Amino acid sequence: EARAEFVVVANRLPVDLDRAEDGTQRWTQSPGGLVSALEPFLRSRKGAWVGWPGVPDVEVDEFTDDGLVLHPVTLTSADVRDYYEGFSNATLWPLYHDVVARPIFDRGWWEAYVRVNRRFAEASAAVAGEGATVWVQDYQLQLVPSMLRELRPDLRIGFFLHIPFPPVELFMQMPWRAEIVRGLIGADLVGFHRPGGAQNFLWLARQLIGLEPSRGSVGVRSRPGMVQVGDRTVRVGAFPISIDAAGLDTLARTKAVTDSAAQVRADLGNPETILLGVDRLDYTKGIDLRLQAFHELLQEGRVKPENVTFVQLATPSRERVEHYQRMRGEIEQMVGRINGEFARVGHPVVHYLHQSVNRTELAAFFSAADVMVVTPLRDGMNLVCKEYVACRHDLGGSLVLSEFAGAAAELSSAFLVNPHDLDGVKNALEQAITLDPAEGRRRMRALRRQVLTHDVDRWARSFLEALGSETAA
Ligand code: G6P
Repeated sequence: EARAEFVVVANRLPVDLDRAEDGTQRWTQSPGGLVSALEPFLRSRKGAWVGWPGVPDVEVDEFTDDGLVLHPVTLTSADVRDYYEGFSNATLWPLYHDVVARPIFDRGWWEAYVRVNRRFAEASAAVAGEGATVWVQDYQLQLVPSMLRELRPDLRIGFFLHIPFPPVELFMQMPWRAEIVRGLIGADLVGFHRPGGAQNFLWLARQLIGLEPSRGSVGVRSRPGMVQVGDRTVRVGAFPISIDAAGLDTLARTKAVTDSAAQVRADLGNPETILLGVDRLDYTKGIDLRLQAFHELLQEGRVKPENVTFVQLATPSRERVEHYQRMRGEIEQMVGRINGEFARVGHPVVHYLHQSVNRTELAAFFSAADVMVVTPLRDGMNLVCKEYVACRHDLGGSLVLSEFAGAAAELSSAFLVNPHDLDGVKNALEQAITLDPAEGRRRMRALRRQVLTHDVDRWARSFLEALGSETAA
C-alpha cells in the first residue's frame, strides 16, 4: 500500500546485488555519478528509492537500509538486453552525448523501453503516499513522469536528466522523439544541468507537441522556463548537480586517507608527478585521447618517464554493449604500447586498473595526484573533478578539465581544454605538471570556493523548491 512521502525513482538502486560463483551474495555501491550524488541526500531524508538491483531475473523484496526504504524492480534478461543495454545505452546514451558513437534505433528496444518504464511507473505509484513527491531520475526513465501522472494525479512529480540534453538537430533523429517529450512533460518540473539543455527541450516541446495534429486539443505553448500543457504548467530549468563536498573534505583529512595517499605515492616509486584519470570505462570520457597526449609528450621528451607516472582507474561499465567492448580493447592496447616503449622493469609509466575502488581508496588517489586529468568529449556534469577538488584541503594538485563537461562552467580556474585538440591537451598537461606552486594554490583555492559552497544538498534543495515541495530555508 502507498506510504512514502518522498520517493526517488532511478534505473538502479544505490546498491548493486553482487552474486559470487558459490551463491553467496552481498550488496555493493552502484557505479556512477547519479548514485554518488543522490545517495547521501536521500539517506538524510529517509525516503524510498525505487530501482533495479543491477542483475537480471532476481526478485528481491522491499527492504530497509539504515532508514532508507529500497524498493527493487525486477528486470528480466530480455529487459536488460533491450531496455538497458539496448535503448538506454546504445540509443539514448550515444544520441545524448553528441553522437560520439552512432546511436542504434531499434523498434524492439523501444518497445522494451516503454514496457520497463511502465513497470517503474507502477512500482512508484505503489510506493508513494497520498500527495507525495516523486523524483524521477535520468534518461532510462523519460516516460515515467507521464505514465505515473496517469496512475496517480495526486502526486507532485519532478524529473532530472543527469546526462546532457542534446542539440535540437540531434534529438530530431530520434524516431520516438514526440513520445519522449510527451513522457517528460508529465512532470511538474523538468531539470537539466545546463540552461542550453532546458532551452533545447522547450523548443522541442513547442515544435513536436504543439504541432502534433492528434493532440491539437492539448495546448502546449512555451515561454521561458515553462510549458503550458492544458491547464497544467510544466516548469523547465537548469540545476547543476554537485557532490557531498563537506563529507569528502572530512574524509580526505582522516589519517586513513593521508596514510594511504602516502602509500600510493611510495608504491608508485615516489615519482615527481602523478597524473590521475578516474572514469567509468566509457567512450564519452576521452580516456584514449588523454593517453595519446601523454604518449606524445613522452615521445617528444617533454615528459620524462622516470619523473611522471600516469594512473588510470577505469570502473567496469556496461560490459556487454559492443561499443564498450571495442573501446576497452583499444585503451588496453594503448596502455600496453606506451608501457612497452617507456617502462622499465618494475616501473610502468601507465598504471591501469579495470576495477572499482571504494570511497576511501579513491580519496587517497585524489590526495596523491598532482594533476587530475578529466577529458570527456561530452559529459553532463562530471562529478569526479568536483570530488578531486573537495579532497584537496592542502590546496595541492591541479585540474585539467574538458570544456565539454558541464562542470567547466563552474570550474573556470582549472586548465580548460578542448579534448579534440591534442596539442592543446598536451600543452595543458605540461603547464599543469610544471605549475608554480603558488599559482597552483591560487587556482585550487578558487576551485574549492565554488565546490564547497555549491554542494549536492544545495542542488537538491533548489530543485525541490522549484518543484514546490519544499520551502526556502
Ligand atoms: C551515469 C548515468 C547514470 C548511471 C551511471 C552508471 O552517471 O547518468 O544514470 O547509473 O552512469 O551507469 P550504469 O549503466 O552502470 O547504471
